[in-house]
Amino acid sequence: MGVVLGGMGIAHTPTMGHAYDGREGIDFKDRWKQWFKGLAPVKQWISEIAPTHIIVVYNDHLNYFDFSTYPTFAIGMSDHFPQADEGWGKRAYPGMDGDVDFSASVAESLVANGFDLTFCQELEIDHGIYSWLPCLIDHPWPVKFLPIAVNMVMQPVPTPARLLALGSALRSSVVDTADDSRVLIVATGGMSHQITGRRFGLTNPKFDQFFLSKITHEWDELISIPMSRIMQVAGTEAGELAMWYAMRGALSGSVREVYSFHIRPEITGCGVIAIEESNDK
Ligand SMILES: [Fe+2]
Repeated sequence: MGVVLGGMGIAHTPTMGHAYDGREGIDFKDRWKQWFKGLAPVKQWISEIAPTHIIVVYNDHLNYFDFSTYPTFAIGMSDHFPQADEGWGKRAYPGMDGDVDFSASVAESLVANGFDLTFCQELEIDHGIYSWLPCLIDHPWPVKFLPIAVNMVMQPVPTPARLLALGSALRSSVVDTADDSRVLIVATGGMSHQITGRRFGLTNPKFDQFFLSKITHEWDELISIPMSRIMQVAGTEAGELAMWYAMRGALSGSVREVYSFHIRPEITGCGVIAIEESNDK
């Protein structure tokens, strides 16, 4: 029987990774340094709770899947997930190891609970995970990963209610596992941002902070806001925040917020929240 230790929501952006690496020739704003400093307590928290597995609900940005065939939900069933090359060359980090037995057990439970995902024997991981991963865990990564990719790029995308239900099914699947897995559930999606059209560069820090203040204990209020409204006030790509509901759905009602932080380094609102289960320690 496995246990859910807690959840983390975090923004991702390609620039975050390059800023962290100090990529040569690019002048990064000091606000990136503040973001990385703001992540330090989360890094400490993950190290303290010491998960054996991290389930990450994320979205691929057409770096592995493409419009010819785009799965709504896809689960990584491999013992290794290489980093995707997004056109800049791969960054100097190893791929992510998976646990096939754990993945198979989670998949079986998800199917039993009405979530028949696309099974991926191969899956390359883009900045959806790699932009923040090296900031929070030192490599070689001392944990097994189970990536779950969600369609956030091709309409119609799954609804917030469906993502919340996916989270709930994920929690059951962890409890159903035969081994003593200690699992952290992560959801990652950019906060306020818009990278197309006349509103390019729009962010809404007030909305981001509102979202962070509600997701732990008042998520039902958040989820009642239509995603179209969120995209209106926080930019079209803020639609990725719907994935955070999967993280919240995987947690019980008995949780405490450990930490949250928000800043807008550039182009995209960056926020993080760490939530710990009270009863599962
Ligand atoms: Fe994204």
